[in-house]
Amino acid sequence: MAKGGRKTIRIGLLGCGNVGAALSSLLTDPVGQATLIERAGVSVELVAIGVNDLTKRRSDQSWFPSHLLTKDLVGIVAREDVDVIVELLGGIEPAGSLITAALESGKAVVSANKALLAERGVTLERLAESKAVDLAYEAAVAGAIPIIRTLRESLAGEEIYRVMGIVNGTTNFILSKMTAEGLAYDDAIEQAQRLGYAEHDPSADVEGYDAAAKAAILAGLAFDATIGLEQVHCEGITKLRSIDLAYASKMGYSVKLLAIAERRGDGASVRVHPAMLPLSHPLASVDEAMNAVFVEGAASGPIMLYGQGAGGMATASAVLGDLIDVARNQVAGTFRAPPRRHASLAAISMTDLVSEFYLSLDVADEPGVLAKVADVFGSHGVSIRSMEQSGLGDEARLVFLTHAALERDVAATMEALNGLREVDAIGGVIRVVGDEQGDR
Ligand SMILES: NC(=O)c1ccc[n+]([C@@H]2O[C@H](COP(=O)([O-])OP(=O)(O)OC[C@H]3O[C@@H](n4cnc5c(N)ncnc54)[C@H](OP(=O)(O)O)[C@@H]3O)[C@@H](O)[C@H]2O)c1
Repeated sequence: MAKGGRKTIRIGLLGCGNVGAALSSLLTDPVGQATLIERAGVSVELVAIGVNDLTKRRSDQSWFPSHLLTKDLVGIVAREDVDVIVELLGGIEPAGSLITAALESGKAVVSANKALLAERGVTLERLAESKAVDLAYEAAVAGAIPIIRTLRESLAGEEIYRVMGIVNGTTNFILSKMTAEGLAYDDAIEQAQRLGYAEHDPSADVEGYDAAAKAAILAGLAFDATIGLEQVHCEGITKLRSIDLAYASKMGYSVKLLAIAERRGDGASVRVHPAMLPLSHPLASVDEAMNAVFVEGAASGPIMLYGQGAGGMATASAVLGDLIDVARNQVAGTFRAPPRRHASLAAISMTDLVSEFYLSLDVADEPGVLAKVADVFGSHGVSIRSMEQSGLGDEARLVFLTHAALERDVAATMEALNGLREVDAIGGVIRVVGDEQGDR
């Protein structure tokens, strides 16, 4: 039980894919293990690894503990000599049932499973608290970036009014390629898949669902509230065209898929959508597959954390940080109480939000079109901040930036513009975020 006078914390690992295999290596590397014990003051031992397929090759490292692999995941959770379960399976089931069983039997749990935590996190937290054990999930949002701990601990006394994050590396990579190289959306996806940044089926990333799960987790922690996935408005990047990204660059903006959690009075707006950020905004220069989270607090002012949001080793680093924290608590006979989720925040409807907008229209190249289009904007109370016109043979493109306008007024403007004979197509409609002046 004791190594050099220390209690050894025994770990059961569920899943040995990208993250699980990296964590197994970190935990069993003989040199790393010694350093870990010395630096963290805890002794941890990996005692079982649950997988689906025992024939799969997991690692080239000679010390990789293949002898610990088993298909009996329920058995790992039930083992009395296991202190902590690390869940790196992904998906809702069987991960949810296994974590529930682990907590019920008094084992601490570390997980990187954003989908499960967004859906059942609050229930699992309550269960963990009732059993006086830890439930830690730093790796569930933005990989290696320590945003969960920052919100829970460092900013515990802060009145946070907005969190904005680039929390999906796949979409950030695609948008970076479309912007920097003018690639069409399909070509950028193809490149992302070839380089391993996008899955064969990229829909969870490009439709914004992955970012939406992370937005729900971030909003709940930032506002001490229970925020359900159904409260998150979600738009992906599939409708974006490189021509609109090029116009955005020319106008001094960068287009990003943002997860935004904003608090207004007794309400909260939690949403994922593409947004144009002024190039001067710190998030605008977060390119390729990198992630960043920008937090704005009343006393703290702005804070930005930047780093690798995915990748086996980077994510395993966050899991290992949680594991050490949990192991230290177990040695001390304590646990970290879950966040106080006391606020009940009404969801602010998207139609009630106010944003500046970028709009591009393909129109007939004939006299009087601009006046008709401008009239539609005016009659719906949407004021134009700037306009640019370019010719395309028989057609012309009009590109507008609006002043701040209600979403529902902009939607009504779009509908009316669609009905104009002179408007061939509405190209891009992108919200402008981040250059509000004193919007609190
Ligand atoms: N990859 C990243 O960069 C990243 C970043 C942040 C968070 N995460 C999160 O970390 C978790 C793990 O991600 P990953 O990329 O490592 O996933 P992955 O490569 O797909 O690995 C999943 C592992 O779980 C095992 N598994 C899945 N379902 C199982 C079942 N029903 N029974 C037994 N074993 C099962 C698989 O077994 P086999 O190997 O035998 O098939 C595999 O070893 C997910 O929640 C993910 O959202 C990942």
